[in-house]
Amino acid sequence: MIRRVAIIGTGVIGASWASYFLARGLQVTATDPSPGAEAALRDAVAQHWPSMVTMGLAEGADSAGLRFVASPEEAVRDAEFVQENAPERVDLKRELFARMDAAAPAEAVLASSTSTIMVSQFQDACARHPERVVLGHPFNPPHLVPLVEVAGGAQTSVAAIEGALAFYRGIGKHPIHLKREIRGHVANRLQAALWQEAFNLVQAGVASVADIDAAIAHGPGLRWALLGPFLNLHLSGGAGGIGALFEKPLWAATEGMWRDLGTVHVDAALGAEVAAGVAQELAPHDRAEMVRQRDATLLALLKLKAQAAELP
Ligand SMILES: NC(=O)c1ccc[n+]([C@@H]2O[C@H](COP(=O)([O-])OP(=O)(O)OC[C@H]3O[C@@H](n4cnc5c(N)ncnc54)[C@H](O)[C@@H]3O)[C@@H](O)[C@H]2O)c1
Repeated sequence: MIRRVAIIGTGVIGASWASYFLARGLQVTATDPSPGAEAALRDAVAQHWPSMVTMGLAEGADSAGLRFVASPEEAVRDAEFVQENAPERVDLKRELFARMDAAAPAEAVLASSTSTIMVSQFQDACARHPERVVLGHPFNPPHLVPLVEVAGGAQTSVAAIEGALAFYRGIGKHPIHLKREIRGHVANRLQAALWQEAFNLVQAGVASVADIDAAIAHGPGLRWALLGPFLNLHLSGGAGGIGALFEKPLWAATEGMWRDLGTVHVDAALGAEVAAGVAQELAPHDRAEMVRQRDATLLALLKLKAQAAELP
C-alpha cells in the first residue's frame, strides 16, 4: 500500500491534493519554486481541513505532517506516488518529468494533473522509465470531488495505469480509465458541450443567464449528480429501458435537437451580456456564504451518496 506521496506544484490543484492526501493519512512531501509557496500551501491546507474533518479523517491523519522541500528531486526521492500540478505548459512538464524520472525510485508512478496536455507530449522526456507516466486528472477541487481521470500515453505500461487506478480507488477517489488520450479528457468535454449550448441560448435570446443556470441546478443537474447521462436515459426509458427508447418517436426528435445545437464564439458583446447576467444573479446573495453553502451541501451529498449502495 502506498504511504509516501510527492506533490510537485502547490497552486490551486496541488494544495487541494495535498489536503486530501494528508486527510487520508499519507505522508506528503511538496515543492513549488514560487516565493511564499510554503506559507500559501500551509494556509490553503488549514482552510481545507474543516471540510476534511467533516469528510472523515483516516487514522493518524495530521495536517502538521506536511513536509515542504526545495526541489522536485528532493520531493520525489523516496516517493511511491507523484502528483504533478505545475502550470499548463508542455515545455515545463517535459523538463519536470525528466527531472522527476531521474530522481524518483524506479517503481514510483508519476501522475500529471494536466487538464489539456496529453501524456504522450511529455513522457518521452523521461530517460529512465517513461512507462510509469500517467494522467491523473482531478476534478476541481480535488479535496472534495471524487472523480479522477486516468489515461496512459503511447509508452505507458498497463501496470502503471492499474497502479494509479488502484491508488486513487484505495484513498476513496472515483477514478475512471480513458482507453485512449483525447484533448480535454472526458468530463471537461462533457462540460464543454453543455457550456457551448448555454452560451448559444443566451446569444439566441432564448432565456436569461439566471434561468439557464436554474435549468440545470434545479433540473437535470440534480439527477446528474446521482447517475450519469446513460443511466438517467435508461431509467427514464420506461420498462424497456434505453434499448427500447431508441425505437420511440421521441428519440428521433432528441437526435434532431443535436443537429440544432449552436456553435458559438464568446465575443465582447456576448461576454458582457453573460457577465452582467451573472452579476444580477449574484446581487441578492453573499458570495462567500454562497461558496461555503455550496461546499457544505456538496459534502452532505457525498455522504448521502456513500450510503446509497445502488448508486454506482
Ligand atoms: N484549476 C483547475 O480547475 C484545474 C483542474 C484540474 C487540473 N488542473 C491542472 O493542474 C495543474 C495546475 O493547475 P493550477 O490551477 O493549480 O495552477 P496554479 O497556477 O494555481 O498552480 C501552479 C503552481 O505550479 C508552480 N510552479 C511553477 N513552476 C514550477 C516548477 N518548475 N515546478 C513545480 N511547480 C512549479 C507555481 O508556482 C504554482 O504554484 C495544471 O496542469 C492544470 O491543467 C487544473
